[in-house]
Amino acid sequence: MQLSWSFVYPGRYLFGENCISDVKFGSIGNRALLVFGRSSAKKNGSYEDLIAKLTNDNVEWIEYWGVEEDPSWSTVESIAAKIREFGAEFVVAVGGGSPIDAAKAACVVAKTGASWDELFSNPKLEALPLVAISTTSGTGSEVTPFSVIKKDDGLKEGFFNVNIYPKVAVVDYRYTLTCPKSVTITTALDAFMHCFEGYCSLRTNEMARMMALHGMKLIIENLDNVLENPVYEEGRRKLAFAASLGGFVISMTGTLFSHAASYPLTVYYGIRHGEAVALVASKMIVYMEEWILRMLEKELGIENFSKWFVNWLEELGVFDHLKDYSKSTEDEYLEWAEWLLSGTRKRYFDVTPAKIGREEILKIYEELKVVE
Ligand SMILES: [Fe+2]
Repeated sequence: MQLSWSFVYPGRYLFGENCISDVKFGSIGNRALLVFGRSSAKKNGSYEDLIAKLTNDNVEWIEYWGVEEDPSWSTVESIAAKIREFGAEFVVAVGGGSPIDAAKAACVVAKTGASWDELFSNPKLEALPLVAISTTSGTGSEVTPFSVIKKDDGLKEGFFNVNIYPKVAVVDYRYTLTCPKSVTITTALDAFMHCFEGYCSLRTNEMARMMALHGMKLIIENLDNVLENPVYEEGRRKLAFAASLGGFVISMTGTLFSHAASYPLTVYYGIRHGEAVALVASKMIVYMEEWILRMLEKELGIENFSKWFVNWLEELGVFDHLKDYSKSTEDEYLEWAEWLLSGTRKRYFDVTPAKIGREEILKIYEELKVVE
């Protein structure tokens, strides 16, 4: 744990019913590009609210639809081209982490013309202002300086840039009321993992721990009720806040090994992000320093965290998504281990309170295969 630390949040955080009405779009610029995923914004009410507000604020806009889950570099480039073509002065991203992350990267590319390598190596590149409207309770990307992009012919990579913090984060839980069950589960697990990893990180601090604990408790206490009754507003509200807490937490601590090591599961075996991270973590826990888990158990009032966690994932049906993964091979694990141990991924090992090297990585991937 760090005893000296700072908390910087250069954005404006708006939470609650109809909080979009507090965004002063006109003061950010006159022309905006709106970035969406596939179609959920039209079902959950966010599109309608946004268009009404932009009209009211006299902002001109064009729309970019279709950002895919785990957005690729070519999507980022095409969003950036649209920004330039239209002369957008700012971007509004609506959705879960995918549209928001793609928009963050595009805000840098449109402003600076950065290449993939530049984007991932220069954390000071300038960016156009971004408003992030969150419609899932997961990534917390609306309050972080991170973005994760998939290389067109390879794995996902995360980059950090203080200029991609959304200028305004809009978190209105009503937009999550129509989230399907599968999305609710994977996003809640992602948020939980951000809190868990931030709590355990060697870079943690007292404020990150406080936020992380509250976030984990909110998810544990409310996820089941929301899955039973998807329009349970109080539960949705709490999950939405927990997800932002996870975002604030990782803005301070970053994520751990379980995040990086989960990327091959998502990219090559289609296991959704939150579930992939949780699955890797279920195997990582045995290598973690005991005292951290004991402390967490005490604070959460859970007797055996590792056992509880696996049971929880079983109840949520997460292990069922490993069917395709049973075809994975040792050669792949070797390749993934090589990737994890090279380049900037080393930073994940430095902050993870666990003894994990090549041998442990291979074991973790292998053990996931035999889970029934
Ligand atoms: Fe995540």
